[in-house]
Amino acid sequence: MATELWLPTPYDNNRPNPAQAWLDPLNNGGTSLSRLVVQGGCRLRGNVRIGGRKNSVVAVIPATIVCGGVSRLENIPHITDVEVFTEMLRELGADLEWTSNGCGSGLLISTANVTPAKVPYHLAKKLRASYYLLGALLGRFGEAEIPLPGGCDIGLRPIDQHVKGFESLGAEVTVEGGVVRARADRLVGTTVYLDVVSVGATINIMLAAVLAEGLTVIENAAKEPHIVDLANYLNACGARVQGAGTDVIRIRGVSKDEMHGATHAVIPDEIEAATFMIAACATHGDVTIENVIPKHLAPVSAKLEEIGANVWENGDVVRVWSNGHRPKAVHITTLPYPGFPTDAQQPMTSLLSVAVGTSMITETIWEGRFKHIQELNRMGTRIKVEGRTAIIEGVPALSAAPIQATDLRAAAALVVAGLMAEGETEISGVEHIDRGYDKVVDKLRLLGARVRREP
Ligand code: EPU
Repeated sequence: MATELWLPTPYDNNRPNPAQAWLDPLNNGGTSLSRLVVQGGCRLRGNVRIGGRKNSVVAVIPATIVCGGVSRLENIPHITDVEVFTEMLRELGADLEWTSNGCGSGLLISTANVTPAKVPYHLAKKLRASYYLLGALLGRFGEAEIPLPGGCDIGLRPIDQHVKGFESLGAEVTVEGGVVRARADRLVGTTVYLDVVSVGATINIMLAAVLAEGLTVIENAAKEPHIVDLANYLNACGARVQGAGTDVIRIRGVSKDEMHGATHAVIPDEIEAATFMIAACATHGDVTIENVIPKHLAPVSAKLEEIGANVWENGDVVRVWSNGHRPKAVHITTLPYPGFPTDAQQPMTSLLSVAVGTSMITETIWEGRFKHIQELNRMGTRIKVEGRTAIIEGVPALSAAPIQATDLRAAAALVVAGLMAEGETEISGVEHIDRGYDKVVDKLRLLGARVRREP
């Protein structure tokens, strides 16, 4: 079936681009302003540079505790999850300093004075990754005490596989009064088979096993690129981790004396990149995305090509541009890496809401990751959820409405929808987006979007 020519309306790219004069004064730091106003109908055009990967940074920062010494981490995004993590490390006694060079921001972290103190609840509850302090402190000190972590409300998010891993290594783990306590006189390497492929459990067991006696083998491990990134950092610091990126990871324990700090540049954030790729298609734009690893984006690139967009890769750059038509409907199933990432599912839903035909998205990772849909439906989308599948009947256009972001990627999805809609979309709850998108308002404006923060 021929697709009709589709352009988001109204176009206003001939108006002056306010980007340069109106840079986001908050740079993501000011979460007191919690509304974004997005004027739809602007094509995104130009270049955007992607920051360091959130989910890698929040694993590498606690890993500095296992390594000891002084580490220089580079390519660190300015997001609130990183701010909270730096506060938690300070509470534990670490010295941290922000640095900057021509390639962006970094952190100089000394963990020489860290002690296994309890992390305050008001910090731990702000993000999921605070649980990496369990593996890191248990590994280095044989004890850890962390309030149960918070993070996006996208499902039950159990930690049984983390606990199973620590116990297999010889720790005693209790969960009481909302606090997880882990203790071990010694940790001894063993084989841990994960019953579900879990990014968090894989990382936590790696952190605990670096200084354990003997060999730890993690079977059915997660293969996400940030697990490889973490292994590279740990190995640069003296650890002996092999097989990261496959489903069997082998960690040969070393002594504390063999560990030291290192300089490490965190890999680019492929979900930030995927979001800009999707936004480029959604606005019928042409965006060149710099500082990416195209292989990590392969499942997203493949789906965008299937819907009819053009994707071109060269070195660490991906360019995405629309073919001038409404996207074609496609079916997507989220899967652990290298499958289609659950973290890109929500922005992709927004794009498919204007496709020609009916798309289906099956979410296999998080049972609660469809909360953006009722907000999208306020904007005129026709999406039904049946069990773990969203059935998306494409509509020709969206209309602006006041909508509420409930989690990080829901916020990104609503911004994509706002960019497509006719009129001004007001998105509240955007403190969620500041958790994971580096200078998002500035970056969108530099691409020609008309976006502003409001109290
Ligand atoms: N699971 C268990 N038991 C466990 C751990 C996980 O049953 O002990 C289940 C979960 O309920 C889920 C599945 O296993 O159904 C996968 O969970 P996983 O542990 O892989 O997720 P996570 O480590 O909590 C990380 C990212 C998420 C991302 C997922 C999947 C961080 C801080 N978070 O979460 O990122 O969606 O992996 O790729 O790395 C985001 O960035 O927006 C985000 C939510």
